[in-house]
Amino acid sequence: MKRSSYREQDYAFGQLVLTLRTRIGLTQAGLADLLGVSRHAVVEWEAGQSYPRADHLKAFIALGVQQRIFATGREAEDIRALWHAAHQKVLLDEPWLQGLLAKPPSPRVTATVAQARGAKAVSTSQALRGPRVDWGDAPDVPSLYGRQREMATLAQWVVQERCRVVSVLGLGGIGKSALAVSLMHQVASHFEVVIWRSLRDAPTCEALLEDCLQVLAPEVLRDGSVSLERRFSLLLECMRRTRVLLVLDNLETLLEEGQRTGHLRPGYEGYARLLRQMAETEHQSCLLLTSREKPGDLVPLEGKREPVRALRLARLDADACQQLLAEREVAGSAADQARLIEAYAGNPQALNIIAQTIVDLFAGEIAPFLEQGEVVFGGVRKLLDEQYARLADLEQMVLHWLAIVREPVTLGELRALLVMPRPSGELLEAVDRLRQRSLIEHGQHPGSFTLQSVVLEYVTTRLGGERRDRAGTACAPDPAWTFPGSRQGVYTAGQGAAAAGSRAGMFSAYPPGAYSGGRAVTLAARPTA
Ligand SMILES: Nc1ncnc2c1ncn2[C@@H]1O[C@H](COP(=O)(O)OP(=O)(O)OP(=O)(O)O)[C@@H](O)[C@H]1O
Ligand SMILES: [Mg+2]
Repeated sequence: MKRSSYREQDYAFGQLVLTLRTRIGLTQAGLADLLGVSRHAVVEWEAGQSYPRADHLKAFIALGVQQRIFATGREAEDIRALWHAAHQKVLLDEPWLQGLLAKPPSPRVTATVAQARGAKAVSTSQALRGPRVDWGDAPDVPSLYGRQREMATLAQWVVQERCRVVSVLGLGGIGKSALAVSLMHQVASHFEVVIWRSLRDAPTCEALLEDCLQVLAPEVLRDGSVSLERRFSLLLECMRRTRVLLVLDNLETLLEEGQRTGHLRPGYEGYARLLRQMAETEHQSCLLLTSREKPGDLVPLEGKREPVRALRLARLDADACQQLLAEREVAGSAADQARLIEAYAGNPQALNIIAQTIVDLFAGEIAPFLEQGEVVFGGVRKLLDEQYARLADLEQMVLHWLAIVREPVTLGELRALLVMPRPSGELLEAVDRLRQRSLIEHGQHPGSFTLQSVVLEYVTTRLGGERRDRAGTACAPDPAWTFPGSRQGVYTAGQGAAAAGSRAGMFSAYPPGAYSGGRAVTLAARPTA
């Protein structure tokens, strides 16, 4: 029985089948064999994409009764609930059920199940005992607002589809770690071991492997030093034998800055091997990563049907942002709240920081905060400084032009803006890297892209654009900023400069004619030597 679309997937039913199968201790293939269906059918049930036929469901229930997977004393009730959840067209055959529950367990069925469990089985007793967890320094997330869709997608990939490597990507502060922690708690019961490690202090791969093996197989480390080669094979052995969820937070710490984004830093190449090993080798575990940047080693392995997936986190939706502000006792009209959320592009970290400022300095009122005009400061600036400092010259230049233009542009328009010609491949790569770092986002028209609002304000401020004091008076541009590789110049703003407002000041930083679009400002003077 098929369900028609993704939207209609019945996650609750999928989860139920998965839980029951895990209790029996069978793989999808093992269960499929015993029920006489294809493995794909079991995959679809667990994905909530289809329901079993009545005869298959009865066989599944019979197996479950034999293996005592239903709560003692409440078997009939649980089975009726399962039948109902499976949207069967025929009523449950009550006399059949009573007969089934009255039967003693059959040694033949038990033996067949034991055989079908094979080497890959998840032990029933383990599944019932719950996972062994080492949550290390995982952050505490008291309340996660919104993100239901993202949670469902990740749970689907990790639990139902048994993906081997799942990355959660996005701008600093967008909520990657918060989501990964929440997911870890939600899916922990589907694993035998759960380990969380932050890579913020950049441990060597050797140290990380040792740390994981301390949890997974401490006995093998007792006999003294174990070579790196051996650690890799031991980890893989554990990943095959045991269903492990390994969460590695802040992978970007190990990635190179500048143009080689996505490549591992010298001395950290071992992680590339770890990623490939987890992605390409058959095992029953899952590596969940969070990173501001996408690790290049995974790109060729990703795909909708592959066991390697990546989810890029976009802004938090408006309702969730409002809940976050309300929790921090920040008040304002709906319009002010919307402006504040827009100014910080729905970034929960930025909103948290700003909420604190609003409470401390503006008695929790959004309106007076917005009136003072400056959105990027303090913690928000630090957050963006960190990401900006990692960019190559061309990437910074692209950000500057997007901040100047302040509207979505296509690659062709961007190329036209840059009078110093760049090979189009180079420009495309720079744009792609910026997208991978979540600093730019797609515009409404296909093929166009633009800056997130908080990034726009940040880059504008860096460029020394007009800043306003609290009374709204324009301040002088910051002369300190110099375009990399160019000389500071003077500019004359022509027609349209008034409308361009804060953009005019930025042109002091660019070489003559560097902006040829004529959209808002005409450069009339060459820079001074
Ligand atoms: N959906 C959410 N609901 C409530 N709070 C959230 C949500 N998402 C994130 N936060 C909070 O926002 C802050 C930043 O989130 P988090 O640390 O997860 O960001 P991140 O993307 O991992 O950032 P970084 O790249 O710096 O590691 C944290 O305090 C977190 O608890
Ligand atoms: Mg994080």
